[in-house]
Amino acid sequence: MLIQSKPSWTIREGQETPESIYMNRRSLMKGFAGALAAGCVGGLSARVFAQEGRARLDAPRNEAYRLDRELTPEEVNLTYNNFYEFGAHKRISGNAESNLVPRPWTVEIDGLVNTPMTLDVDELIAKVGGLEERLYRLRCVEAWSMTVPWIGFPVSALVNLADPLSGAKYLRMETFNDADMANGIRSQPWYPWPYVEGMSMAEANNELAFMVVGAYGKQVSNSMGAPIRLHLPWKYGFKSIKSIVRFTFTEERPVSFWEEISDGREYGFWANVNPEVPHPRWSQATETVLHTQERVPTLLYNGYGEQVADLYSGMEGELLFR
Ligand code: MTE
Repeated sequence: MLIQSKPSWTIREGQETPESIYMNRRSLMKGFAGALAAGCVGGLSARVFAQEGRARLDAPRNEAYRLDRELTPEEVNLTYNNFYEFGAHKRISGNAESNLVPRPWTVEIDGLVNTPMTLDVDELIAKVGGLEERLYRLRCVEAWSMTVPWIGFPVSALVNLADPLSGAKYLRMETFNDADMANGIRSQPWYPWPYVEGMSMAEANNELAFMVVGAYGKQVSNSMGAPIRLHLPWKYGFKSIKSIVRFTFTEERPVSFWEEISDGREYGFWANVNPEVPHPRWSQATETVLHTQERVPTLLYNGYGEQVADLYSGMEGELLFR
């Protein structure tokens, strides 16, 4: 595959600290001067309108999933995103809020299952039964991190609904591929659209694996991957695919989007967080907490080793940590 443009992740060591992006409600109120200085006027106005249009989701918090640090303010999360379908930079929120149409949204469940189905995302949410809120960390491979109050359901509930055949070893997921809705698809033809990700069945059935449909008490924003995205908190953020339209149960391990782009050299299939395994071009030992700009040590499996380390016993020969 010919790569004509490098993703922002292709930064040199020492340059991975993101620009300061924190903007709270008060600074928003200060008006256009602050917004202009941050270079995101379009994004902000689109975001305010879009937020008003998103339904509230009242889901009980599952207290089993707590954090040792404060939540990332919603404003930060809404306007600092990776969503290459809308551009290879962090300021995609205005574009995503204006152009992604998250409802109606059809989801397909197919492959090695007893119950293949095509259904509306809200029908899927109703079928899996019961949403909950979980406070999770998110560690991007670029060495920044957030903490997010996600709302959703365990991936295992989707697995149960699909009722996979015994031959199913992996769950492959695919993002929409509509260049009219996301102009980055057309303007960056060198990327292997659609965005694809995957996980093993053991990972899918792990209690931490979470399908996200909301955040901060509302439906999830377009910039964060409406109407349905994944979050695997022990892996680098690129595994957590956004705006999913298809779930396929397969015997073959799927090749994920960034794995294909980097030919497995920089971004692998497993991509578990490990501070001791550097990215080929920068250290993963520490991370910048986005809203404070504080540099803190990165934890093995992003702090979730107790729940997930067992998944990888006997797999030492695999590239588990990039
Ligand atoms: N999913 C799709 N479809 N397209 C993307 O570009 N970026 C990934 C992941 N999911 C991406 C995606 C990366 S690199 C990260 S770090 C997270 O989404 C970022 O999620 P956030 O923008 O909600 O913080």
